[in-house]
Amino acid sequence: MSLEDVDLTDLDLFAGGFPHDVFTRLRREAPVWWHEPTSHTPDGVGFWVVSRHAEMQAMASDTATFSSERAPDAAGGGTLIEDLPYGFAAGVLLNMMDDPRHHRVRRLVTPAVTPRALGLLEPDLRTRTAAILDAVASRGRCDFLVEVAVELPLQAIAMLMGIPDEDRHDLMAWTNTTLTYDDRELGSRSPASEQAAAAMAAYGTALIDRKRAEGGDDVVATMARGSIEDQKGRAEALSDLELLMFFNLLIAAGSETTRNAIALGMAALIEHPEQWDLLRRDPSVRDSAVEEILRWSSPTLYNRRTATRDVVVAGKRINAGDKVTLWWASANRDEAVFEEPFRFDLRRSPNPHLAFGYRSHFCLGASLARLEIRIMLEELLARFDHLSLDGPIERFRTNKHAGVKHMFVTFEPHVGRSAEFRAQ
Ligand code: HEM
Repeated sequence: MSLEDVDLTDLDLFAGGFPHDVFTRLRREAPVWWHEPTSHTPDGVGFWVVSRHAEMQAMASDTATFSSERAPDAAGGGTLIEDLPYGFAAGVLLNMMDDPRHHRVRRLVTPAVTPRALGLLEPDLRTRTAAILDAVASRGRCDFLVEVAVELPLQAIAMLMGIPDEDRHDLMAWTNTTLTYDDRELGSRSPASEQAAAAMAAYGTALIDRKRAEGGDDVVATMARGSIEDQKGRAEALSDLELLMFFNLLIAAGSETTRNAIALGMAALIEHPEQWDLLRRDPSVRDSAVEEILRWSSPTLYNRRTATRDVVVAGKRINAGDKVTLWWASANRDEAVFEEPFRFDLRRSPNPHLAFGYRSHFCLGASLARLEIRIMLEELLARFDHLSLDGPIERFRTNKHAGVKHMFVTFEPHVGRSAEFRAQ
């Protein structure tokens, strides 16, 4: 296939997972590559594709040149290939906002997701994980994605946001419908996606109103009742739209990503039984195992920036206003950084993966995601000797997320060793 035939906006290219063969070639032949628009490309505008770790780190660090918000005075921008309207999504969502406002808003929410704060949630998360796995353990077969991998991140984010447990599946269904493209093309809407977005907005608005009135120590209450400093140092509350967008972002980021890491991590352990055995034998590899699972699964495939000025990167001239996409999933297989990048190695060290992005917008939920993956591994080890994939992994149509839809597994429970794995 010639590079001219590559279309990263054709979602069918991602049907079997991330197209590693295409990106291996891009890293070698065209690390900063201009993607011409195709019939699938939103806005009919081309974009730059950055595939190597080194350029990605440099560009993600230079937020003045590569904006998450927009090019100066542009009507749209944001971190997806398609332009989102400025003042509605771009410039309002935390991850699509530039400093200094981005930094101020981020500071407001950071205390809720520090490793220390999360330490307090750990016992509850472990109890929930045990319940999730115990519910399927005796059956010998389950849809690991739907019944296991979705559940822990969804319950965790609901807990963190003070959302009643019984509402979580509605939120999940709305998020799935708005973020995936099973019934439409990239950048377009369908009646179902419009309806889901409206239902989500109505739910979020009611929740925010309630938290404003009632208070509480969850993230939504903290944001709704807290304030940031404006340019003159005065206290300023977040706008209703900012709060609603933040609510949407947390639900999506908190639930759509970690579940893919858990599912694809499990699939990798099934496909590499010697690594599963290593994990059972040697508890000291658990932390590096979590990092390797993140590198391997790379749940967020890319994020976009917009160039705010003309700049040359890897010999290519990027013009002010150009869209630039950073493909974290490609950086995580960069031969120049990772020895044998296609080897799944739980002992890998160092492991400077970019699964959580880099620098200014580094994932706010990284500690939570790491904790969830580790607890899940420990509770799986405590219950199952052996798991197998039962059929191919099914995926959503998306080029943005790793997008696992269904993953059936069979397993053999074992008896009497649970305590051993948790205590280590
Ligand atoms: C394995 C799981 C996860 C992955 C792979 C992941 C990935 C990412 C990436 C790549 C970014 C950077 C976006 C950019 O640079 O444009 C990001 C930002 C973010 N993530 Fe995550 N994420 C995960 C879990 C979570 C969780 C559990 C939460 C919620 C608690 C969360 C909340 C956020 C937020 C709020 C941002 C925006 C931060 C900012 O702009 O300052 N993420 N995430």
